[in-house]
Amino acid sequence: MLVENQVALQRYNSFGIAARAKKLTRIRQTDDLTALMASEVWAQARSEAPPFVLGGGSNLVITGDIKALVLKVEIAGRRLVEETDKAWVVEGGAGENWHDFVTWTLDQGWPGLENLALIPGSVGASPVQNIGAYGVELQDRFHSLDAVDLQTGQAFTLDAAQCGFGYRDSVFKHAPSDERSFGLAGRALITRVRFLLPKPWKPVLGYMDLERKMAETGNHSPSAQQIFDWVVAIRRAKLPDPAFIGNAGSFFKNPTVTLEQCADIIARDPKVVHYPMPDGSIKLAAGWLIDACGWKGKSVGNAAVYEKQALVLVNKGGPEQPCTGGEVMTLAKAIQTSVYERFGILLEPEPVVV
Ligand code: EPU
Repeated sequence: MLVENQVALQRYNSFGIAARAKKLTRIRQTDDLTALMASEVWAQARSEAPPFVLGGGSNLVITGDIKALVLKVEIAGRRLVEETDKAWVVEGGAGENWHDFVTWTLDQGWPGLENLALIPGSVGASPVQNIGAYGVELQDRFHSLDAVDLQTGQAFTLDAAQCGFGYRDSVFKHAPSDERSFGLAGRALITRVRFLLPKPWKPVLGYMDLERKMAETGNHSPSAQQIFDWVVAIRRAKLPDPAFIGNAGSFFKNPTVTLEQCADIIARDPKVVHYPMPDGSIKLAAGWLIDACGWKGKSVGNAAVYEKQALVLVNKGGPEQPCTGGEVMTLAKAIQTSVYERFGILLEPEPVVV
């Protein structure tokens, strides 16, 4: 087990923020973690600060050097666990790249993840914030996951109910002392995730951008591969590719309001983009709210609001002059204040801030 010192993290976070990890170790298999947890390094590191688990780094804002021991998850592997009349169950190592995993499942002839194409990040991070796009959330295709308890070293498995999934939310985002008594933030390292891809495959085509593609092409019964290609094209057209422009995807969650609050906003801003939810509440498009406040293209230092999608903050300085985490957070706070002043809604950031 190798512990590297003063490791540059710029390549390991999709914003491309320059920061260092005082100590970093790569977890390539569960045994690496077992060996680490039995070592002096672990005892010493834990006495200073709880270790920090780094996945794909695509939902992360780093505001300074990380003093805690960084566990960089690089567990590889993908396989078909079982195929029944009702489903394919496929498994990915936590360190696998999410988009490559989705591509692989389709190449194998196992459809179901196509709406989630091109989401940056790793397989292991996907359940943490219950990634979602174009009408499908991870929880709709989730089977179970394996993880290791970073306090006891015990390996355990969770099913969907135990993960407590919500909109961009799970037990992995809540502290153990949280209102959810089973919060696992900082406590678990996810090693493998299994997905249940139901048979017969049914396309999910309700999202407006996909309906538009069907109308444009005249193809109203697309294959999974066709949906995958459409999703890739839609994302490329409106979201920045972190390989070229650093970003962490949507920076804020879409807020939920009551019918009365929404009616109030519509009375003042009839164009507000809103979606009724099954529980009677209304979800508002945070990108629209930010856009309406005139934020597109505005910046703080080298952190900027993306020109084509106001919900995404980008690193406009590139790898040479990257934005700092402080600039990102100053910009985010200014956006929150202006949306709050105009609409009375406090936007909640999506990424983890360290
Ligand atoms: N809009 C504007 N101006 C903007 C941005 C958006 O008016 O600057 C309007 C759009 O015209 C559209 C509405 O807001 O009518 C919603 O925009 P979009 O379809 O782009 O989706 P979103 O709600 O902004 C969510 C997810 C994305 C996901 C897409 C597609 C969240 C926080 N974001 O974005 O997820 O890809 O839907 O399903 O739920 C992510 O979480 O990182 C992410 C990219």
